Amino acid sequence: MKLFVDTGDIEEVRRAAAWGILDGVTTNPTLIAKAGKGFKETVLAICEAVPGGDISAEVVATDYDTMLKEATEIASWHPQIVVKVPLIEPGIRLVSTLADRGIRTNVTLVFSVGQALMAAKAGATYISNFVGRVDDLADDGMAAVGDTVDMVNTYGFASEVLVASVRHPLHVTQAIQVGAHVSTMPFKIMEMLFKHPLTDIGLKRFLDDWNAAGLKIG
Ligand code: E4P
Repeated sequence: MKLFVDTGDIEEVRRAAAWGILDGVTTNPTLIAKAGKGFKETVLAICEAVPGGDISAEVVATDYDTMLKEATEIASWHPQIVVKVPLIEPGIRLVSTLADRGIRTNVTLVFSVGQALMAAKAGATYISNFVGRVDDLADDGMAAVGDTVDMVNTYGFASEVLVASVRHPLHVTQAIQVGAHVSTMPFKIMEMLFKHPLTDIGLKRFLDDWNAAGLKIG
C-alpha cells in the first residue's frame, strides 16, 4: 500500500519524508489556504521534499475550459504533479482529456462506487474515496471503498483506489483489509501508526534490563 500525507504544511511533509516510507502528498484548496503561502510555491517545495513522489494539486474552476487551462498550467510545474479534479461532470470530461494527453489525475470528492466507475472509465490515475466525511454522517464510509476496490479489480481498471478523509488509524487498518491501493492521512495520523503501548512498555523493559546488567555494545 502506498502512503501519502494529506497536508500543505512543508514541515510536516519533510518530517514524513525523512522516515523513508512516504510515497506522495495530497493537497486540496483548504490545505493550501491553511499553509498560508502561494499555491505554486507550496506545491514545488513539496515536490522537492519528496523526490519521485506523487504530489496531488487541485484545480479550482468548475467549468471545463477553465479547468483544462488550470490543469495544463499545474501539470507544467513539475513531472511529479498529479492533477486533482473534483468528481463533477466537467471534471470527468477533463480527466478523459488529460488521460489522452498523458497527464495523471486524482479524482477527488468520490463517495460512491457509481462515481468511482465514472472516474475509472475516464482514466483516472487515482480515485480518492472519502471515508471520514461519510462516517461523520453516521454512515459507513469504508463500504464504498470496498465496493470500488472490487469494481477496479473485477473489470481490470488501471486506477488506484485512494482512501481519503482518514480520521484515525483504524481507517488505515480497514483500508488495508479492503485492499485499497493508497491511504492518505494527516501527519498526526501517520505519526500514530508508530504507536502501541506494548511497544513502549517492551522497550522500557529491554533497556532497563540491559542497563541493570551494565552491558555495552562493542
Ligand atoms: C484528500 O485528498 C483530501 O484532501 C482529504 O483527505 C480530505 O480530508 P478531510 O475530510 O479530513 O478534510
